[in-house]
Amino acid sequence: MFPVVIDVDTGVDDALALGLALALPELSVIAVTTVAGNVDVDQATQNTRRVLDWFGAVSVPVARGASQPLLRPHRDAREFHGPDGLGGAMLVPQRSGPILDTAAPEVIVRAARRYAGSLRLVCLGPLTNLAIALRLEPRLPELVEGLVIMGGAFAVPGNVTPFAEFNVWSDPEAAHIVAEAGFRTIWVGLDVTTGVRFDRAARERLAGSDRPGPRLAYEVSRWAFDERGVDSFALHDPVAVAVAARPDLVTGERAFVHVLTSPSELRGRTVWRADAGAPALVAQGVNAEAVYKLLRERLGLEEGGKEPTRPESHAP
Ligand code: RIB
Ligand code: CA
Repeated sequence: MFPVVIDVDTGVDDALALGLALALPELSVIAVTTVAGNVDVDQATQNTRRVLDWFGAVSVPVARGASQPLLRPHRDAREFHGPDGLGGAMLVPQRSGPILDTAAPEVIVRAARRYAGSLRLVCLGPLTNLAIALRLEPRLPELVEGLVIMGGAFAVPGNVTPFAEFNVWSDPEAAHIVAEAGFRTIWVGLDVTTGVRFDRAARERLAGSDRPGPRLAYEVSRWAFDERGVDSFALHDPVAVAVAARPDLVTGERAFVHVLTSPSELRGRTVWRADAGAPALVAQGVNAEAVYKLLRERLGLEEGGKEPTRPESHAP
């Protein structure tokens, strides 16, 4: 079992990822930290608390993080996640857990020191908090067991620009700092997340369920299916959480990853140089069936959805 801190910009797929993380015996969720991304950081913090409380995880603390990227203005993705960032979900938890006074980067540093050598950081939003935490504690790459980052588009198009994935595009300077810091990292990019999907038919099979996982999935997908009218959406963040528990779910190559911050048209592009001695693994293949099995068994979700002919765009 790994102690994990999960950094989120809750968001619809972040919510499902949190539900999965709580249900995976391989992971012990020590804290959840929030960052501006899909929505502003206050909304992300409120959403995160609601989702954890929905699953009864009131003892898992939430820490509020960066309200904007290091250098860039914050650009949200509400068009995909709905005005509230949770797809318009109607979730009323019984009790509510704490939101810490301590800021997210400090929580990351304290957890890394307390669980030296074993803490796994799961990054599901822009990497702003981790970049700040590195400034506070430059030894982080040695202290943590490793990172699992939902981010990047390596051999596939991006979902914000033709080159860049949303988390990396949102704060390319933070992603650059993290990529160059020497962390043991599994980069779970669009190359492997776009093909694991939740579709309308799978949602309809969950209608009427009173189990927390299916209820959450049914509720948070209101915006996508009822307002946007899409046929399916990718489970980006749940794939990354599944990999944090089971790194064998992906295959790829060890590489040095670089994040471009300029020129503007290449902002957030992730490039990599294969090297067997590199500390990072760039995922290129995923055992989707095994991920769906985890989602079914642990969260009660059905599988579903065909990869669209063109990736969903978070076009600014
Ligand atoms: O590009 C997909 C990523 O951006 C996911 O983490 C999603 O929640 C958004 O943050
Ligand atoms: Ca996210």
